[in-house]
Amino acid sequence: MKYILGNWKSNKSAEEVKDWFIKFGKYIAGHKFDTVKTEAVIFPPFIHLQLCVGLLQKMKLPLKLGAQNVSAFHEGAYTGEVTAKMLRSVTKYVIIGHSERRKYFHEEDQILPEKVKRTLESGIIPVYCIQDEKTYIPQGVKFVAYEPVFAIGSGTPDSPQNADSVGRVVKSKIPDSIFIYGGSVTPVNITGFLVSPNIDGVLPGKASLDPLVFGEMISNASSI
Ligand code: PGA
Repeated sequence: MKYILGNWKSNKSAEEVKDWFIKFGKYIAGHKFDTVKTEAVIFPPFIHLQLCVGLLQKMKLPLKLGAQNVSAFHEGAYTGEVTAKMLRSVTKYVIIGHSERRKYFHEEDQILPEKVKRTLESGIIPVYCIQDEKTYIPQGVKFVAYEPVFAIGSGTPDSPQNADSVGRVVKSKIPDSIFIYGGSVTPVNITGFLVSPNIDGVLPGKASLDPLVFGEMISNASSI
């Protein structure tokens, strides 16, 4: 299985989400989307998740949903937080430890394992972001996303060879892990990553915002 995980970050109004689905639906109807070989997931902002559930059902699209963040706490007096219990009927995955969360929201190695625990308790799959092979990975994590900071949003991806060598290290530490590469992934470079022996998927940010570009990445992945 190859994973295409589209991180929308803090983008899109409700109207823009609807527009994305209409254009994606039209594109993918005429292109290859092999759901046996390819799992495609979008990670919209929290507020759009229910809207996406409705649109996916209405349009019968085989996309899965993920959240970009989760509370480290159980439910209770934690103003502004969204818990794993709230997410579990809606999302299959949650991104934890993205470098933007570490940089702008000061999320560190103390709080991140708590987020992983809450996520696993709720039956959601944590996609745990590491910045290099030395980043601490909490117990129970199976999906590891290698996202070198220099490659994020820069247009300069890491090489498939280097990403693959990080994947080899991660898989030697966690033998049954799923290793994902993220950072300036595009329809042009996606195949190079996905054919690498230790890379199981990609995590495009900017390239997932355009429904046709995201669709092209899925169809390229389905053609490998
Ligand atoms: P990018 O972002 O594809 O825009 O570089 C990747 C990410 O941060 O997940």
